[in-house]
Amino acid sequence: MKQLIPSIYYVGVNDRNKERFECLWPLSSGVSYNSYLVVGKKIALIDTVDVRFFATFLDNIREVIGTRPIDYLVINHMEPDHSGCIGLIRQVYPDICLVGNKKTLQMAEGFYCQSGPSLCVGEGSELSLEGMDLRFYLIPMVHWPETMVTYEPQSGTLFSGDAFGCFGALNGGVLDSEMDVEPYFPEMIRYYSNIVGKYGTQVQMALKKLGGLTLRRICPTHGPVWSESIGRVIAAYQRMSLYEGEQGVSLIFGSMYGNTLLMAESVAEGLVKGGLKNFTMHKLSRTDPSYLIADAFRFKGLLLGAPTYNNGLYPLMEQLLSDLRHRGLKNRLIGCFGSFTWAGQAVKHLTEFATAPGMEMVGEPVEMKQGFTRETGLKCRQLGEAMARRILEAE
Ligand code: FEO
Repeated sequence: MKQLIPSIYYVGVNDRNKERFECLWPLSSGVSYNSYLVVGKKIALIDTVDVRFFATFLDNIREVIGTRPIDYLVINHMEPDHSGCIGLIRQVYPDICLVGNKKTLQMAEGFYCQSGPSLCVGEGSELSLEGMDLRFYLIPMVHWPETMVTYEPQSGTLFSGDAFGCFGALNGGVLDSEMDVEPYFPEMIRYYSNIVGKYGTQVQMALKKLGGLTLRRICPTHGPVWSESIGRVIAAYQRMSLYEGEQGVSLIFGSMYGNTLLMAESVAEGLVKGGLKNFTMHKLSRTDPSYLIADAFRFKGLLLGAPTYNNGLYPLMEQLLSDLRHRGLKNRLIGCFGSFTWAGQAVKHLTEFATAPGMEMVGEPVEMKQGFTRETGLKCRQLGEAMARRILEAE
């Protein structure tokens, strides 16, 4: 439990056991499920936590309000990592009124057979807690259709749901001002790109809608409460939702026996020769896709290399391209290289990706038959240099 300001308390929990968020995305540093109490004469609980943590969650609540009842449970988002305790909370607080929009309340009934007291709110609806006020804004598809945020105007507090959240448990502190936030920012990019990345247009609409609010703190459902980093957090969301990359490159390659790997090493030499320092290298078979997707969202440049496989593209690269297409990635500078033994297909597929609408292909694709040669290395270095020059002139 943590008091953020006299009337707002953090009552969330850490999950350091879950291996993969949504059974998909690895959690190397855990994740927090954030929940908040807003205390006026009446009390509102903002979101709940994963059902496995109900006992700790209830302890946190009782530490703040003792035996007082909770009047409202505001559900900003129905994904079960936040809605999972609705039924149990109602067993403890049978008179609690569930607050959500029309879609929220339908989902609450569908997921948890909830048909008790409820208040249906819409865009701009207000709810007085007699001493604190709550106002609701709908932000559909950030990242579910029912998603909304809750704003408390007196304190300038935005309860933002998943928006502005990140992976990573909270290590002792809750507020950004009391911790080193640097490890959380890459995890915000990974969270956003993998889970929300498809919905850039809807995130832009949400940012415009919330742009006029006075914000003193943003309380997301995962990760730190943002106060002194609000500007940086919003700027990151602006950039990601516009699919704008930073001045750098991610070099991602697959290799089975080391020949395409040697091509990648030469491309990297070309990047350095061209004066670029800000780049990452990932071998597909050694890196979880969530980190590749995150770097593809982070950087303006992508260098993609893979062998031909089964008369098509190396499967892990094929999967990555599918992941990026599915998320609508665009505005990228892309260079390609690849290899084959008897019939070339990899470079053809990579070139199709690099020349799709919204993409710009950089340099000459390099295609290698069988083993790596000095001549191939020279072409790969030229490709890397061309990418470095294009990235550096793009700013
Ligand atoms: Fe944290 Fe979309 O649930």
